[in-house]
Amino acid sequence: MSAKKKAIHDFCRMKREGEKITFLTAYDYPTAQFAEAAGLDMLLVGDSLGMCVYGYPGTVPVVMDQCIRHAEAVRRGAPNTFVVGDMPFLSYQTSIEKAVENAGRFLKEAGCDAIKLEGGVRVVPQIRAIVDAGILVMGHVGLTPQSSGQLGGHKAQGRTLESARLVIEDALAVQNAGAHMILLEAIPPEVGAHIARTLTIPALSIGAGPDCDGQLLIVSDMIGQFQAFTPKFVKRYCNVAAIVTEAMRAYVADVRAKRFPAEEHGYPMLPGELEKFQAACKAKA
Ligand code: KIV
Repeated sequence: MSAKKKAIHDFCRMKREGEKITFLTAYDYPTAQFAEAAGLDMLLVGDSLGMCVYGYPGTVPVVMDQCIRHAEAVRRGAPNTFVVGDMPFLSYQTSIEKAVENAGRFLKEAGCDAIKLEGGVRVVPQIRAIVDAGILVMGHVGLTPQSSGQLGGHKAQGRTLESARLVIEDALAVQNAGAHMILLEAIPPEVGAHIARTLTIPALSIGAGPDCDGQLLIVSDMIGQFQAFTPKFVKRYCNVAAIVTEAMRAYVADVRAKRFPAEEHGYPMLPGELEKFQAACKAKA
């Protein structure tokens, strides 16, 4: 039987008690099932699905409908895990109303428990409005992939005093706007530790060091499925690309060598029917 689904108060307690929160992305039903069986505390249906599932060069082309469909599948696969829906580019930046409506879609249509959106000071009005609508919000500061053009690429942030101050200012703004959790991406471990210590809300890390309240990885990086590049913060736990490619090679070789299908893969006729079938074929010939 799976463990009881965790709620926001559980994550706050875990922060207080120094128990690390385990967090992974998932984009589909089977992966969500594996994650729930493995005991993950929280799943993110990240807009990284644009790269990991659709093969886009970045997250910018991803749209709400895609995120909703994937979030629905993850919800079905992991009914007892806290699921966060990630708001894609331009689903919350253009107006407060649109931000609230799109955030609400993750809950109403996909059964998500919370939403995540990128940005600090500049998305404070959106965070306030979404929280006021009764929705749990996770902020996301540091490296924010949707605005990587403005950041000069997918570059770590907070590596100078001035840049660290900006990241900290963003993190405080997210908490003060009422967000319930925050994700810190690609910042030095000292800056991650400072923010996690300073904030009262759980601060999760993806490349922000070991002293945050929990850790996130992108599942496609973690299992060695995504091939294009591997960020420095990734630890690879298996090489799915090699395993699956090898299995496919073996299948191709079996079919070409007529080793597959074998007798055990077929459907024999019911008892007594084969003789009748053969006689009928003979009579027709
Ligand atoms: O979309 C995603 O998976 C994310 C991570 C890069 C943090 O937002």
